Amino acid sequence: MADNERISTSLNLPVDTRIWPLKRYTDMHRFSIEDPEHFWSEEARKLDWYETWDKVLDWEPPYARWFVGGKLNASYQCVDRHVKTWRKSKVAIYWEGETGETRVLSYSTLYRDVNRFASILEKLGVKKGDKIALYMPMVPELPIFMLAACRIGAVHTVIFSGFSAQAIADRVNDTKAKIIITADGGYRRGKTIKLKEITDEAVQDCPSIERIIVVKRTGEDIPWSEGKDVWLSDLLTDAAKYVEPEPMESTHPLYILYTSGTTGKPKGIVHGTGGYLVYNHSAYKWVFDIREDSVFWCTADVGWVTGHSNIVYAPLSHGAAIVLYEGAPDYPEIDRWWDIIDKYGVTVLYTSPTAIRMFMRSGEKWLEKYDLSTLELLGSVGEPINPEAWEWYYRYIGKERCPIVDTWWQTETGGIMISPTPGIEEIPLKPGSATLPLPGVDAVIVDNDGNEIPPGETGLLIIKKPWPGIMMDIYGDSDRYRETYWSKFPGSYYAGDFAMRDKDGYFWMLGRADEVLKIAGHRIGTAEVESAVISHPSVTEVAVASKPDEIKGDALVLFVTLRENEKPSDELKKEINKHLRENIGPIATADEIYFVDSMPKTRSGKIMRRVLKAVASGQDIGDLTTLEDEGSVEEAKRAYAELLKTKK
Ligand code: WTA
Repeated sequence: MADNERISTSLNLPVDTRIWPLKRYTDMHRFSIEDPEHFWSEEARKLDWYETWDKVLDWEPPYARWFVGGKLNASYQCVDRHVKTWRKSKVAIYWEGETGETRVLSYSTLYRDVNRFASILEKLGVKKGDKIALYMPMVPELPIFMLAACRIGAVHTVIFSGFSAQAIADRVNDTKAKIIITADGGYRRGKTIKLKEITDEAVQDCPSIERIIVVKRTGEDIPWSEGKDVWLSDLLTDAAKYVEPEPMESTHPLYILYTSGTTGKPKGIVHGTGGYLVYNHSAYKWVFDIREDSVFWCTADVGWVTGHSNIVYAPLSHGAAIVLYEGAPDYPEIDRWWDIIDKYGVTVLYTSPTAIRMFMRSGEKWLEKYDLSTLELLGSVGEPINPEAWEWYYRYIGKERCPIVDTWWQTETGGIMISPTPGIEEIPLKPGSATLPLPGVDAVIVDNDGNEIPPGETGLLIIKKPWPGIMMDIYGDSDRYRETYWSKFPGSYYAGDFAMRDKDGYFWMLGRADEVLKIAGHRIGTAEVESAVISHPSVTEVAVASKPDEIKGDALVLFVTLRENEKPSDELKKEINKHLRENIGPIATADEIYFVDSMPKTRSGKIMRRVLKAVASGQDIGDLTTLEDEGSVEEAKRAYAELLKTKK
């Protein structure tokens, strides 16, 4: 019996026999694929537009421009429209600091702050189309600044606060941001992170930065550069109360968010305004079945796409109440999240399999003190969820009452693509399956030649039609956009994920098919890690692989060859990890570093990744199958034996 069947039976879930017919979902999905323009124009009318569009979709592959001619403003959508209704006194954000303090912002307060912050940006000379960078802890000022930026038509790029100075500089220089907003520091697991110092180090190499706006959070002493640095509180003293939202073209960029790909340089994913907002507004309702009295908590950092779409734009566009938590899940103890759910009456929890596995390992005893009965729905995102973690989540957090929405999507897709949609119809669940594509999503699984494959076989996921949430471009690199997503299967979007569709049409997402890793749900490219390690003076060559990890899903493993005269040592391993932290950030810490005599390569000089993967994960080379062709089987076997022999 397969794992999923075993669990479904033991939990008495309504699977298999009762799956079809799914009437409402099927009708809606069919209509959305047959007549996407009609379907999406109905959805788009749920938002407020200054001007309606002339054309729903302008599709010149690979560029999709949605709601062309339409004008709207994201900040108006997320705040102004609510303060015109009873929601003005509704909670928008329950914020909880790691150190225990709380702030509750109503939609009126949020509106007031978004306006004041927008006025500050205007006074500093920020104009429509300008880029601003945000390197901030998870404090309310972060979403407020995002909304303030789009109020005046500026394009934000949020840089995850765990990234290093080098990573900030790369992103700022790519966007040529004029202003960077940071804080004196942030809290993480009881310690402070010196965000201002890291920002200072980064901007030394960023000629475009004119000003650094600093939010006070920790109150610690920080380095200060008169003329360049400015406290938010000082700017606020003469901020205006109201700033007219700029009517933005639907196809104007809303933000740029960097993500890892298969080369060393992260990609600046550009999302537009109208399509992105419409798609997320609809997807959020379908997936989370959100109601006025919902309290929604997405535990991601705002610095990732999950936070952009599911902390800021989708929930606020619905006028939902959200929870924003600043700190670590295990601080001061591993029950912090349960305390937060109990305290704020959270109804929907949206988190990652890595977090679930961590809680699972620490045991159910940590749940005993808390009332989790407000929970109605649970969500999972970022990596495949293994059936054991699914079962634990379902049983102990959801108390066998709450459906789990396993949501598959990507930074590039803008919003959730494959997921159960309880907001449309109750979709019977199968633990470990993201179930079915959302309306408007024409997902199929193909072999390497683009032929659709039969149920039960593993292939590559592609999306055959554009949907409104799709990225607009890679910032400053349209060739890479075309090449990465559209050249493998012309006319279709290539997601870079392995997937399988079962006999019921359910999708099983099976991990990345390219050289992108998912470490604790964080996306990181092997090439990015390799280019950081290679800059270490002792290293001549490096290749990155991953091995399965009980909690993080995948753990990072490095294979390194050293310069002559360099001796392998534990010291050197530590130094390489330190070097990685400085170049990328703590998410790039390697769990294992092996020193080897040479890299396994094909005759044409390509690194045989599956050999590395086999050695890293302790599997036999014969156990690994892949759709990619990297050298012959004999070559791989020989290289595998060689690598095992020399690894230290
Ligand atoms: C993976 C995160 C399995 C996948 C929103 C994808 C998943 C990559 C799931 C995108 C899921 C995301 N099941 N795998 N439910 N959700 N992934 O850009 O490999 O950080 O391509 O976006 O995460 O990662 P990103």
